[in-house]
Amino acid sequence: MSDSRTQPIFDTAAAAYDDHLVPAFFDEWAAEVTRRLGPAGDVVVDVGCGSGVLAPHLLVAGWQRVLGVDPSGGMLARAATHTPGAAWVQGDAAALPVDDAQADAVASSFALMFIPDPVGALREMARIARPGGHIVVSTWGALHDTPGFGAICDALVHVGGDDAAHLLRRAFSMGDASALSDLADAADLPDRRVATHRVTARFPGVQALAAAYATALGLGDETRAGELEQALRPRLERWTDPGTDEISFPLTGLMIEGSGRGCA
Ligand SMILES: C[S@@+](CC[C@H](N)C(=O)[O-])C[C@H]1O[C@@H](n2cnc3c(N)ncnc32)[C@H](O)[C@@H]1O
Repeated sequence: MSDSRTQPIFDTAAAAYDDHLVPAFFDEWAAEVTRRLGPAGDVVVDVGCGSGVLAPHLLVAGWQRVLGVDPSGGMLARAATHTPGAAWVQGDAAALPVDDAQADAVASSFALMFIPDPVGALREMARIARPGGHIVVSTWGALHDTPGFGAICDALVHVGGDDAAHLLRRAFSMGDASALSDLADAADLPDRRVATHRVTARFPGVQALAAAYATALGLGDETRAGELEQALRPRLERWTDPGTDEISFPLTGLMIEGSGRGCA
């Protein structure tokens, strides 16, 4: 079951997410996930695929059939437009629409923190992956290890109160490696281990970043985006190029890696 507080936001946020956040850092992460999945095989499933950032990487790497699963119709519509050659199915990590051992690999990036039963989701991924098939599940590091996003959260609270930062805080709520390890243990994920990887978040300017988050989080009109920009400027100063206004800061993510079981 998806979460009733956060899930509707993914539908309304799909365009802003896809146009501004995917190029800012999700795309670089997708390249790393593709590398970690190892040599391409036949079927790969992307759980919580969002707007489909991973699929083009997988197809270029040689995977034959890519299936993206996500509860959000808005996200899936974007994915199908970008990559009609993949299969896009509305579904939930709690009960993946795939038979036992049908996937040669399973990826899931930045969805686990929005899934009410993460252990159940990891079990589902292990069920649909064949024994030995690679599983890579990503989360972001904690906010205190990612000061750029800490600053964005702080600006969101300043402008819109705690509610405005709820989704972003949730996105950074699984940043503890030992807690992730415990989840993988609880799911009895074969060959489990936790790794970290760092990418760089890049935004073309403070105004663009403010507009992207104001739209994605449904903060309202241009006035709110302007207020957010004013709140962001001093908080992001140390990562902002004074000449170009470009922002870049490091972003750490974690990955649970493991293998399939091929049965429940
Ligand atoms: C931050 S986005 C990540 C999307 C994509 N994986 C990426 O890397 O850009 C989180 C995604 O998780 C999806 N999601 C939320 N709850 C889910 C659930 N119960 N099962 C599967 N996906 C879920 C959302 O709809 C959303 O598309």
